[in-house]
Amino acid sequence: MPNIVIVGSLFGDEGKGKIVDLLTEKCDYVVRFQGGNNAGHTVEIGDEQFILHLIPSGILHNNKVCLIGNGVVVDPQALLEEMQFLESRGIFVDGNLKVSDIAHLIFPYHKKLDELREHKKGNKKIGTTKRGIGPAYADKVSRMGIRMIDLLNEKSFSEKLRNNLEEKNDLLKNVYAGQPFSFQEIFDTYMEYAAKIKPYLANVPMILMDAIKKRKNILFEGAQGTMLDVDFGTYPYVTSSNPTAGGACIGTGVAPSKIDQVIGVTKAYSTRVGEGPFPTEFSGDFAGWFREQGKEFGATTGRPRRCGWFDAVLMKYSVLINHFDYLVMTKLDVLDKLETIKICTAYMYKGELLELFPQDTDVLTNCTPVYEELPGWMQSTNAIRDYKKLPANARAYIERISELLGVPFNIVSIGAKREETIFI
Ligand code: IMP
Repeated sequence: MPNIVIVGSLFGDEGKGKIVDLLTEKCDYVVRFQGGNNAGHTVEIGDEQFILHLIPSGILHNNKVCLIGNGVVVDPQALLEEMQFLESRGIFVDGNLKVSDIAHLIFPYHKKLDELREHKKGNKKIGTTKRGIGPAYADKVSRMGIRMIDLLNEKSFSEKLRNNLEEKNDLLKNVYAGQPFSFQEIFDTYMEYAAKIKPYLANVPMILMDAIKKRKNILFEGAQGTMLDVDFGTYPYVTSSNPTAGGACIGTGVAPSKIDQVIGVTKAYSTRVGEGPFPTEFSGDFAGWFREQGKEFGATTGRPRRCGWFDAVLMKYSVLINHFDYLVMTKLDVLDKLETIKICTAYMYKGELLELFPQDTDVLTNCTPVYEELPGWMQSTNAIRDYKKLPANARAYIERISELLGVPFNIVSIGAKREETIFI
């Protein structure tokens, strides 16, 4: 198998966990390259369900090396809890998991600032997961961040933490009327984490370079999705990292020349959790009915996801940014009961037809989708395993999308379980 990057093609929650899990069978290394425990990757194996937030879903397989790259921001408490959760389910991470020593850490003040900033924004809030992701990346970029490696040097860790707290406590007290954090409490807690996490720390680029030399296969596991990319997404309603294909290189230390394929995962419809423009969003009773059909509730926060029709305008932009070699369509079965299905092919804005993604978030918020309508198939697809046996209208739907995007589909998923998959 080639070295593959898996990318969420729109707003995240496309079902990447299942697809990574399936492809992991054929690879040797799985590496997360961005985000943090804001992600929630759900994998169902038999009757068991696993929701992973930080550790690559490859951990559910034996003998796969799972890596957390430098592009990820790590909440050590969340990491240790996830390790414990896996161990309680009989999955041991020892030896299989390595964490980049230059990944940045999330601290309690990041989570607090995330929460207070959201609160202060009122109805302009982003709808973050409140996991401290944005503030941790902000510290990284403003060169205030504290990295995994700092946990191993008590003196410099203590200095960096003190400097940070000076600034953060000022902000908390004077801007947000919040409570300051105690240096000693955080220091002691993080030194305890350090002792537990130390055996997992590693030089990830070296491990991956060695893997490439040995012709091992690497799967790059993206979190969130293209339209949440801090550069290319619906800014400012985005996450603070680069979930797009290019992020795989920056977030792991592997050069672009070593990536062979990019696969985009897309749902058969669109969803979004959190605030921000979503032109094809459903409304009224249908929205609630559809959400229940698709069980569209956030894996990390439990928030109801906003649902809408497939948006080919956003998807074309996602194809442009990621240059997908293949697409994977998930949750086709959720459309099984619909008489007609719509695909958004353009937007109308002040009398003008827009066929390209408008960069101005205000335009995206106020435009009206232009739809193409296709007949539904009104039968269950869940038990089908052969593409040719899918109802003709289901194939026509998949093929129309593929035609609009100019990218072939190679997997269609018709249920959460591993076996509920059609390879084309
Ligand atoms: P943050 O990543 O917690 O800062 O949240 C920023 C935006 O990204 C919010 O709209 C979140 O709902 C969204 N977001 C973050 N992680 C995920 C995810 O894993 N799936 C879907 N949306 C996400």
